[in-house]
Amino acid sequence: MRRAKISIIGAGNVGATCAHWAAAKELGDVILLDIPDKVGVAKGKALDLFCASPMERFDAAVIGTADYADTKDSDVVIVTAGIPRKPGMSRDDLIATNVKIVNSVAEQVAKHSPDAVMIVVSNPLDAMVYTAWKSSGFPTNRILGQAGCLDVARFRAFIAMELGCSVEDIQALLLGGHGDDMVPLPRYTSVHGIPVSQLLPEKTITACVDRAKVGGGEIVKLMGTSAYYAPASGSVQMAEAIIKDKKRILPCAAYCDAEYGVGGYFVGVPCVLGADGMEKVIEIDLDDKEQALMDESISHVKELVGVVQQTFPQLV
Ligand code: NAI
Ligand code: 2OP
Repeated sequence: MRRAKISIIGAGNVGATCAHWAAAKELGDVILLDIPDKVGVAKGKALDLFCASPMERFDAAVIGTADYADTKDSDVVIVTAGIPRKPGMSRDDLIATNVKIVNSVAEQVAKHSPDAVMIVVSNPLDAMVYTAWKSSGFPTNRILGQAGCLDVARFRAFIAMELGCSVEDIQALLLGGHGDDMVPLPRYTSVHGIPVSQLLPEKTITACVDRAKVGGGEIVKLMGTSAYYAPASGSVQMAEAIIKDKKRILPCAAYCDAEYGVGGYFVGVPCVLGADGMEKVIEIDLDDKEQALMDESISHVKELVGVVQQTFPQLV
């Protein structure tokens, strides 16, 4: 049986860490691509990672390159190309630079891997997924954005820290765009099936919600650039669900039209991931307050997509 092929575009912090998790999990052969000026970085990181394979005991080719021909016929492509934020910047400040990068990357991905599922990570996430969709011409089931896995993992981690229990036992749900107005849902959060509201006071839960919303910014302030271990873990969790056709339910930026009243944009919703990529959006009941927060988050996503459309009118 042919091994799966996973290409990662951008060999920076998130891209290289995606390569690490994907190879260590033996998801398939890994191609790490960067621009020609950085091909040494891509090749060096790939070789270094491959040299860990005898010790970590994984069988996977790991190849660094600047040539899209090496990514040909990938099953999954993870797009991490673009600039990250620096202290004081919001994700939205990256749009002018990253829209051009993601536009050109998505065109190349479509040309060389026309049947792949593309997972976009570059920020501002929801607008970059839209860009990749329009630039690639891929059907909406084969374009996804990684944000929800990360954001919900942060929320789960903060709840576990408060409870002093295993992170594994926290189940949670989160909707909306990958901005500070994302919508964590305490009502759908449980600890081994026990509603979190029975275990923590409301003000502690609210503090965890607020910390999750600005969780990316907290790390940028600490280390001067954006996070990469957890973002890469979220991306590879999605890739694994697709490659192994696991039908996992994960929060992803997925195309929604009638769903949640979104009207044709990519926003964070729970969806089923399997061999066909995004196989189904799952709709849940929201109360008035939750729907209002979701509507606000969606309107922010629409604003950012408007900026993309102004930059590249052909992407309307
Ligand atoms: P980084 O600066 O470490 O790496 C980015 C890499 O992309 C660089 O090596 C750069 O040379 C490469 N690149 C630039 N243009 C390219 C092109 N046209 N083709 C191929 N490669 C190209 O940045 P980092 O920390 O890896 O972040 C990457 C992106 O991911 C940023 O936009 C960041 O905001 C975003 N991000 C998104 C997260 C999410 O949850 N969605 C979480 C963390 C970061
Ligand atoms: C994060 O949430 C910056 O989107 C990135 O860490």
